[in-house]
Amino acid sequence: MKRSIIRLENVWKSYVMGKVRVDALRGINLDVSLGEFIAIRGPSGSGKSTAMNLIGCLDYPTSGTVLLDGNDISRLRESELAQVRGRKIGFVFQQFNLIPSLSAVENVELPMVFQNVPKKKRIKRAMDLLSSVGLGERLNHRPRELSGGQQQRVSIARALANDPEVILADEPTGNLDSATGKSIMEMLISLNKEGKTIILVTHDENLARMAGRVEYIMDGKNYRRLK
Ligand SMILES: Nc1ncnc2c1ncn2[C@@H]1O[C@H](COP(=O)(O)OP(=O)(O)OP(=O)(O)O)[C@@H](O)[C@H]1O
Ligand SMILES: [Mg+2]
Repeated sequence: MKRSIIRLENVWKSYVMGKVRVDALRGINLDVSLGEFIAIRGPSGSGKSTAMNLIGCLDYPTSGTVLLDGNDISRLRESELAQVRGRKIGFVFQQFNLIPSLSAVENVELPMVFQNVPKKKRIKRAMDLLSSVGLGERLNHRPRELSGGQQQRVSIARALANDPEVILADEPTGNLDSATGKSIMEMLISLNKEGKTIILVTHDENLARMAGRVEYIMDGKNYRRLK
């Protein structure tokens, strides 16, 4: 049997704001095996990013269980959670989320700084990763000196910095034209072929179809689409 890398069991996530409670997730279940490529689709506000935050160990569930590699994340203290996240998960966001004042190399180095990788080794790895995503000629450019597609490639290199098992990509092509978006998708597909587990949130039906499996979310729950 394939090893389960991520498992959500009857997960609820509620946000309380003053007197209003929003149940962003209402009993969602998800099981992702090591090496899978899954796409998550669902209407705006259905809880996709909330689910990604839990999978990415950025937050705790209100109830239910989130297992990362068999470990219940609710049992970890925040500092432990941050360590697990830094080692096991790479993030790619719609808005790239690069640090504007840092060069491409420095942005890719950052996750390695938090894992105490020595400086020389960090720089070498950052340069190698940037070359592997086709940015060997843009090492010292700042984000604003790069195109959207190039910035997203820097963020893919950054996601790979600590050689994580899982890559979470929340609408990574949402700010790109369709050709550039497709090239980012192809990059994710080739990373999956190299063994990375990929979870992609996308509104794009055509991109979702390129994943191994599609999960639908509606109103914070799994939704079986009628064919
Ligand atoms: N930090 C927060 N505090 C309060 N409410 C939140 C918070 N984050 C999300 N929500 C609410 O939870 C619900 C789900 O939001 P979420 O961002 O997960 O949706 P989504 O499926 O990612 O939507 P989109 O496709 O627009 O990105 C929404 O109603 C949102 O307003
Ligand atoms: Mg979202």
